[in-house]
Amino acid sequence: MNDRLPVQKSTLFYSGNGCHMVNQFSIRSRIYSGENALQTLQQYAGQRVGIVTDSFMVSSGLINRITEQLAQCETAVFSEVKPDPSIDVLQQGARFFYELRPQVIIAFGGGSSLDAAKGIAATLNTLGIVDSILLVAIPTTSGSGSEVTTYAIISDPANNIKYPLVSEDLLPDVAILDSSLVMSVPRSVSMDTGMDVMTHAIEALVSINANDFSDALAEKSLRMVHEFLPQVFHDLNNQYAREKVHHASCLAGMAFNSAGLGLVHGMAHALGALLHIAHGKINAMLLPIIIKFNSQDDEQIRDRYALCARIMDLQNQNNIMQVQQLVKQIQRLNKMMGIPASLKELGSDIGLLRQNLQEVITAVLNDSCTKTNPRPVNATDIEYLIEQIIG
Ligand SMILES: NC(=O)c1ccc[n+]([C@@H]2O[C@H](COP(=O)([O-])OP(=O)(O)OC[C@H]3O[C@@H](n4cnc5c(N)ncnc54)[C@H](O)[C@@H]3O)[C@@H](O)[C@H]2O)c1
Ligand SMILES: [Fe+2]
Repeated sequence: MNDRLPVQKSTLFYSGNGCHMVNQFSIRSRIYSGENALQTLQQYAGQRVGIVTDSFMVSSGLINRITEQLAQCETAVFSEVKPDPSIDVLQQGARFFYELRPQVIIAFGGGSSLDAAKGIAATLNTLGIVDSILLVAIPTTSGSGSEVTTYAIISDPANNIKYPLVSEDLLPDVAILDSSLVMSVPRSVSMDTGMDVMTHAIEALVSINANDFSDALAEKSLRMVHEFLPQVFHDLNNQYAREKVHHASCLAGMAFNSAGLGLVHGMAHALGALLHIAHGKINAMLLPIIIKFNSQDDEQIRDRYALCARIMDLQNQNNIMQVQQLVKQIQRLNKMMGIPASLKELGSDIGLLRQNLQEVITAVLNDSCTKTNPRPVNATDIEYLIEQIIG
């Protein structure tokens, strides 16, 4: 089995609207799923393998599910990843693996561990410590979709910002989806991460770079997460529903990897970094506000959100009412899951936000996710939207 597939093999070209334009859509990561998927790790027998994860994965013993498949490998475990990984962790991890010179890096954990591992592998490559590294991503939350994306979201705590790195070098070669790994995720983290999936799917569907290929992935993802996330909420032990949300997360990752995201993510990165709010939670809070803002005066944008509503089986006579129903449905889901509607309700430090208002606005405008939002935005718009989310 060779997991180093050349990108071109699965690259499909199609012509865009302009006669000189060629759009590209590619899916490189090989995806293994199902209850025996972790056994595919045995193919790395005899190789030097570095594992990047967080301390919970080690203390809970979940890491053993990985290491037991690597008995024939020389392994080292770096478990210093913290939520919203910083540049420092990337450097620390690269130093940690200096001696091992890993041929394979396994990213194991939530989005934070996956993104840290991607950054560490890229750092090792850049420093020339290894010729090339095979990157294997094994998510243990159903949220980021990072196992199939070219993104790594990195924090700069000194400046209270979080920014997406985007590069083909960050794309995992292999993704392994095993829903038994997510069974222990607590309810609130499951709901936050699940709403991240819903946000990825909706933002991919309305992005200025949405295309037929990303739409196919985002539509399926949205339908699945909308149907199965409430089932997970009501029964955390429902592995069938857990698996559906896990797969929806990966599908949404593939969708936004092609289409990009939007203003919900642009604002979530800036506000989440300053106020230390879980990524999925701040997305869920912002989503209804941004849908209302984006769809206000533009029929085409409204059409796209109305499509989201229909995918979620929300029927109504016209697009305006369908979009209103979409907003209400997200608000209803948030309420059921215990996700607050505003920063005041969450108990965030509003004074700190007001003190850093200009920095936050600048970060939102510079965030690469903001650039694919369907409605162009300026500083006044962002200030208005920040007032909305403050509540
Ligand atoms: N690269 C991308 O494409 C992308 C996309 C969206 C979000 N992100 C980033 O991902 C990060 C968020 O990832 P996340 O939402 O998965 O959270 P996370 O990785 O920060 O994990 C949240 C918490 O859940 C715990 N956890 C993880 N797996 C568990 C399990 N199986 N059982 C019990 N607890 C478990 C972790 O230890 C942690 O305490 C943010 O930094 C966000 O910016 C990246
Ligand atoms: Fe996200």
